Amino acid sequence: MTPPPRDPPGPPGPAAHLSAAGAPAVPDLLGEARRLAPQAVALRRALHRGPEEGLTLPATQRLVLDALDGLGLEIRTGRALSSVTATLTGAGDGPTILLRADMDALPVTEDTGLPFASRAPGLMHACGHDAHMAMLVGAARLLAGRRAAFAGRVVFMFQPGEEGHHGARLMIEEGVLEASGTRAEAAFALHVDPNLPAGAVRLRPGPQMAASDRFRVVVRGRGGHASAPHTACDPVPVACEIVLALQTALTRGVAADDSAVLSVTRLAAGTAAGVIPDTAELAGTLRTLAGPTRLRLHETIARVAGGVAAAHGATAEAVIDPGYPVTVNDPGVTGLVLRAAADALGAGAVDVLPAPQMTAEDFSYVLQAVPGALAFLGACPPDRAPHETPALHSPRMTIDEDVIATGIACEAAVALAFLAGRAPDPDR
Ligand code: NI
Repeated sequence: MTPPPRDPPGPPGPAAHLSAAGAPAVPDLLGEARRLAPQAVALRRALHRGPEEGLTLPATQRLVLDALDGLGLEIRTGRALSSVTATLTGAGDGPTILLRADMDALPVTEDTGLPFASRAPGLMHACGHDAHMAMLVGAARLLAGRRAAFAGRVVFMFQPGEEGHHGARLMIEEGVLEASGTRAEAAFALHVDPNLPAGAVRLRPGPQMAASDRFRVVVRGRGGHASAPHTACDPVPVACEIVLALQTALTRGVAADDSAVLSVTRLAAGTAAGVIPDTAELAGTLRTLAGPTRLRLHETIARVAGGVAAAHGATAEAVIDPGYPVTVNDPGVTGLVLRAAADALGAGAVDVLPAPQMTAEDFSYVLQAVPGALAFLGACPPDRAPHETPALHSPRMTIDEDVIATGIACEAAVALAFLAGRAPDPDR
């Protein structure tokens, strides 16, 4: 996921470990997760040392396969990507829930000074996907030890290529949703967030994260001498007008209770101070929270760019590169996650996320196909305040490793709650 905006400044001071707050109704899950944590933390550090990028992550895949070895899972690996799909079968027939961790790192040069910092030049697990894999392996271990106590199946989806490579879509095309033999009926994923208090679980029903699309506009005019623009058709002021017109179109065209962000992040034109160029180019991202708004704004970008250019005798061509869809949490599964997480971690750890984030996530593809939810897991390091700690994607991003136990317990709790709730009623 792309880096989220910081929380508004709050009272300074070290992050509270919310997982310790409250009186957990199911204390054994968190206790069991804590017993598994040293192994999970060791795995996380091994993964952190050797980050890999994109869809092909052979060393990462090897570490995950080795860690799952001996748990009695049915394992499949991907064809187009180095994914791992592991299915755990419980004691009886029942539905399937899918739990997902992403696996890829980012082209970031680590600057944390950690003893287990990245040894791969120019690559870093700066988005916490190392922790996601460690938590999901831990949840697999915990649930495998309890397989006699539940009916149904749990599919553990280890997914490369979340950072812009559409890895989840590829895994769906390769059959991850049917990996257990029946289609998954629910799905859940956690994403760590160092800008939330350690151990806090936050999610909301409906849109939780945005769709993010890239766009590029090429303005074509006619070059000439900088001293005589009247003999040319200067694309540079046209491009500048388009940047501003797009902002106006957004504020006038999107309802106040809807959300959209358009940022032009690149402007390019020309080669010399004395020469009016033939073309100018601008590019950026559009983020939206509703499918119809997203499609309408794609048309808006093309129309505004073309219209502004035409007003000056130039032309403009807009190209949209669609990114991930809106991440939409199913209200029913969101409610189940809120209850299960509160039971396992204590009510003080769990809350509804007040507003969506405008970052994007390719778990959205899974949530388009299966009712499910993504939750943020606060991971602010000790002795830091959430609003001042380096965000996801920063070269200085670190997490509180204690939250790995919290994540293991949360994922296991969600799976067990779903499977228990869906088990056949013996009285019927
Ligand atoms: Ni991420």
